[in-house]
Amino acid sequence: MNYENILSNFDNGITTITINRPSKLNALNKSTIKELHEAFKDADKDKETRVIIITGSGEKAFVAGADISEFADYSISQGERLAAQGQALLFDFVAHLGTPVIAAVNGFALGGGLELAMAAHFRIASDNAKMGLPEVSLGVIPGYGGTQRLPQLIGKGRAMELVMTAGMIDAAKALDYGLVNYVTPQEELIPLAEKLAGKILKNSPVAVAAAINAVNAGFEDGENGFDTEITEFGKCFGTADFKEGTQAFLEKRKPDFPGK
Ligand code: COA
Repeated sequence: MNYENILSNFDNGITTITINRPSKLNALNKSTIKELHEAFKDADKDKETRVIIITGSGEKAFVAGADISEFADYSISQGERLAAQGQALLFDFVAHLGTPVIAAVNGFALGGGLELAMAAHFRIASDNAKMGLPEVSLGVIPGYGGTQRLPQLIGKGRAMELVMTAGMIDAAKALDYGLVNYVTPQEELIPLAEKLAGKILKNSPVAVAAAINAVNAGFEDGENGFDTEITEFGKCFGTADFKEGTQAFLEKRKPDFPGK
């Protein structure tokens, strides 16, 4: 499929989605959000895609936020709709995909950019990356899940400080906070994402999806993560992947997971 604002490339079990508006520091306008929704949906449906990497084009930015020029004159109801639609189409959508999503943060990840990285299942960053939720400096608050996911990832006190000060942290601090799992020089960022994806590719995609669901359940209102874990654990026993995984172990060979 041809996109205007993003690139999607499949290779060796991995679909890499690149936000491609470098002249606007990859800011997320509505059409980019729609294209990202389609690209994530297609990659998730594609049985050959076992890991998705999301990154930004250029050397300066992952995503410098939601496109401020688009919502500057919005009303209360338009603002509410913007957040609700964005969360449904992209941020919650990504967080709940069964295909693992790794965010490769290659520069500024601000506002909606950090929110997108936080919706991914985990994050790595290049050493020039800078992250923050500067919305209050514009008179608004994070609306794409940032007030919820940032405290989940770095703790309430640190999140409160970062949000209220509209501050930015560098990659080293993000690593220290546990916001990203690794920091590398920029040219090694995608190779590292691919190396981590390669480790995931060796495992049962059905079990990986079940694990994502169980981990997410602990952060959902009204859901008991332990109960979800029990259900997902049980379901694994009915899968061909479980039969192959256990059989391969007993036969002292590498598993060849059928993915069902
Ligand atoms: N929305 C719309 N356009 C954006 C944008 C955003 N969030 N972030 C950057 N851009 C655009 C700039 O308007 C500029 O476009 P122009 O060349 O047509 O004027 C272009 O991207 C380059 O940005 P610029 O500000 O010139 O780069 P810089 O290196 O001086 O500063 C930042 C980089 C990230 C510090 C700065 O762009 C910034 O503060 N962006 C907004 C961050 C933000 O508040 N995000 C949260 C939004 S809710």
